[in-house]
Amino acid sequence: MNGAKGRDMSQADVVLGIQWGDEGKGRVVDSFAGEYDVVARFGGGDNAGHTIVVGDRKIALRIVPSGVLQARPELFIGGGTVVSLEGLVAELDMLAGIGVDVSRVKVSDRAHVVFSYHAALDRAGEAARGDAALGTTGRGIGPAYTDKAARAGVTFGELRKPEAVADRIRYNLVARGAQFGRVESMPREEDVVAETIRHLPRVLPHVVDGVSYIHGALERGKRVLVEGAQGTLLDVGYGTYPYVTSSHTIAGGACIGLGIGPTAIGRVVGVAKAYCTRVGAGPFPSELFDAIGERLRERGAEFGTVTGRPRRCGWFDAVAGRYAVRVNGLSSAVLTKLDVLSGLERIAIVTGYRLGAAPAGFEAAGEPGLALDLEWFEGWSEEIGSIRTIAALPAAARAYVGALERALGVPIEAVSLGPERSAIALP
Ligand code: GDP
Ligand code: IMO
Ligand code: MG
Repeated sequence: MNGAKGRDMSQADVVLGIQWGDEGKGRVVDSFAGEYDVVARFGGGDNAGHTIVVGDRKIALRIVPSGVLQARPELFIGGGTVVSLEGLVAELDMLAGIGVDVSRVKVSDRAHVVFSYHAALDRAGEAARGDAALGTTGRGIGPAYTDKAARAGVTFGELRKPEAVADRIRYNLVARGAQFGRVESMPREEDVVAETIRHLPRVLPHVVDGVSYIHGALERGKRVLVEGAQGTLLDVGYGTYPYVTSSHTIAGGACIGLGIGPTAIGRVVGVAKAYCTRVGAGPFPSELFDAIGERLRERGAEFGTVTGRPRRCGWFDAVAGRYAVRVNGLSSAVLTKLDVLSGLERIAIVTGYRLGAAPAGFEAAGEPGLALDLEWFEGWSEEIGSIRTIAALPAAARAYVGALERALGVPIEAVSLGPERSAIALP
C-alpha cells in the first residue's frame, strides 16, 4: 500500500487505582511526575482527594493533577472531568499561596461545570434513597454527569459566552424545576448566575482547546502522564453498580476523557493498597469488622480526604485485583501502604470467591452467601518505612509482595512504604 506513513507521536502513560479509590494515586503520580512534561486528569471532579507529602508539606488535591508539586510538568484538567468553579479557584489560591506557579494549570474547554445546584441535587438524591443511599461525597458529581448526558450541562468552553450560560442555568433551574421536584436549599437562579460570572476572570485564563492541547503535546514528543481518579471498582460501567461513581474510571476512560485514541496509550500502571479500603456503601467481600480492621484504619489513617468519613478496611482481594488487571489492560502495578501491615501476626489475601460449591468471579461480589477462599501469610514485626529497595524488605514482607504479584499476574514495579515522596522501594 502507498498510504501515508503512520503518525509520529509519543504515547501517554496512565496511572490509575485498581480498588475502590484512595489507593495512593496522588502520592504515586507525584513520585513519577518529575519525568513528565504534562500530567493530565481525565475524569471525576472534587469527589477525589489526592494527598501528597513532600518533606513537612502535606496537601490534598481535588482537581488539579498531582504533578503540581514538581516544577517540570504542566497540569491538564481533561474534557472528561466535572469541575466546580468555586473548588477550582480555591485550589488554585491554595497552591499559589504555597508558591506554586498556577499558570501551568490548563482546563479543557470540554470539561463540564459543577454548579451549586448539582450538589443540592446530589444530597437530595441521597436523602431520597434512605437506607439504600450510595454514600456519595455530596459534591454534585452524579447530577453534573447526568446533565452532561442529558445535554443540559455547561462546558468550560461555553463559559466564554456568559449570556448563553445564564440561559442554560435558567432552563435547568426553572424549566426543569418540575423534574427536580422540591429540593430544600436549591440555589436561586440569579445567585447561580452571579456566582458563575464572579469566577470567570479567574477561570477563563486557564481554559484551552483541550483536543489541540493534548495532541499538540503528544505530537511534539512531550511525555504525558495520565492520572486516574477514584478506582476501577467505582467505574460506572464496570464497578459494583449502582454503588459506583458516575464516570468511567478505568483505562478506557482515559481515551474518552482526554480525546485520544487507544493507540496513544503507553503503559497502564495500576495502584493498589497492600490491603483494601472502601468509603461509602456497597459490596466489599473482604471487609473486616474486627480488631484487625480497626487496626488497619488507625495505622493506615483511613479516614476520607474529602469527607473525613472512616474508611471500611479489609484484606487484599486478588479476585478484584485480577478483574482490574483485565478491564484496564494493566502493564504493571505499584503497591502502597505496605508499611501499615507491619506488626500483624498473620496477613490474608482473598484468592477466590465461591457461591455454594461453584467458584465465582468478581461479578458475584455483592451476592448473598458469597464465600471467600483465603491464603494466609506470616507477618513481620519490623518498621519498614526507611527501606528503599524491595530486596531489602524483611523476608516475610517480600514473600507477601511476591504472592500479590503472582496473584495479579503483572509485575509490581515499586512499593510505597510511607506517605512522603521519597518513601518508595524499587526492585
Ligand atoms: P488517592 O486518592 O489514591 O490519591 O489516595 P488518598 O490520598 O486519598 O489516600 C491515601 C492516603 O495514604 C494519603 O493520606 C497518603 O498520604 C497516604 N499514603 C500513600 N502512600 C502511603 C504509604 O505507602 N504508606 C502510608 N503509611 N501512607 C501512605
Ligand atoms: P479518589 O480519587 C474513594 C465514592 C464515594 C461513593 C461513590 C459515589 O480520592 O480515590 P460520588 O461522590 O462520586 O458520586 O460518590 O464513590 N468515591 C470515592 N471513594 N476515593 C475517591 O476518589 C472517591 N470518589 C468517589 O465515597 O461511595
Ligand atoms: Mg483519595
